[in-house]
Amino acid sequence: MYEALALPETGAVWEQLHDWVERHSGIVLTAARSESFRIRVEAICQNERATPQQMLQRLERGDARVAMMVADAATTNYTQLFREREAFQLLAEQIYPTLDPGPVRMWSAATSTGEEAYSLAIHAAYNLGPGTFARVKVLGTDLSARHIEAAETALYETGRMPDLTPAERLAFEPVSESHWRVRPAYRDMCTFRRLNLLAPHWPFTQAFHVIFCRNVLYYFDATSRHRVLEAMYDVAAPGAWLITSFTDPTTDSPTRWSTVQPGVFRRRPT
Ligand SMILES: C[S@@+](CC[C@H](N)C(=O)[O-])C[C@H]1O[C@@H](n2cnc3c(N)ncnc32)[C@H](O)[C@@H]1O
Repeated sequence: MYEALALPETGAVWEQLHDWVERHSGIVLTAARSESFRIRVEAICQNERATPQQMLQRLERGDARVAMMVADAATTNYTQLFREREAFQLLAEQIYPTLDPGPVRMWSAATSTGEEAYSLAIHAAYNLGPGTFARVKVLGTDLSARHIEAAETALYETGRMPDLTPAERLAFEPVSESHWRVRPAYRDMCTFRRLNLLAPHWPFTQAFHVIFCRNVLYYFDATSRHRVLEAMYDVAAPGAWLITSFTDPTTDSPTRWSTVQPGVFRRRPT
């Protein structure tokens, strides 16, 4: 058993770690978030038998493993199946009727552990009628490799499925008393990849018809938010929809998106 390392609670090294996080992921570590970040990084330091200064040096040398752990420490993964129901109601009432026949590509940007992506797949299958399993594809991406691995398991605690309808529950198969897994038909509609929204290039070759980017923009400063929203416009098909959380800040400076209502945006149809 190792003795715990004594770590500095404050000081320039923490400011430098905050800077690294902001440069790398766009996440601004406000006072409220910096405490949980410090606790998580200290746990990493103990595991790695390294001081924060040594972690910083490894980050500056481009150590990808440490970079992933520190980026994870800065994020919050809270999410839920069918979170913010209004967004799904909006899909059924306003968005689905505008979709052309043919393939539909949806993107759950910052999907966390995948609940949002699977909710999109299940909702589409129930509301878009026959052929949906082949027609609709959902890409879930997140900065955190750990969250993406969890998303790929499609395994969720039953205690965290507060208000699924009986029909929605049928999209899951029980695997234990405490966990259900998304059934294969819906899993096959979804693909998960690690992606930093602040990366200089996104590797997409086909445009999206629906983009969900919820509960992540508030991590970024106004410049990064603007950059992400504009980049999303470039990967959106004509007439595509962008849904942010209704409480996410999006209006710092104008973008090419047309505002339909707060949190709901549309790309020009041509
Ligand atoms: C609070 S969760 C939101 C999950 C889901 N969209 C929802 O609304 O329930 C925020 C997610 O954003 C991810 N995130 C933070 N910064 C990111 C970045 N620069 N690129 C991609 N994902 C990021 C975090 O890893 C975390 O999983």
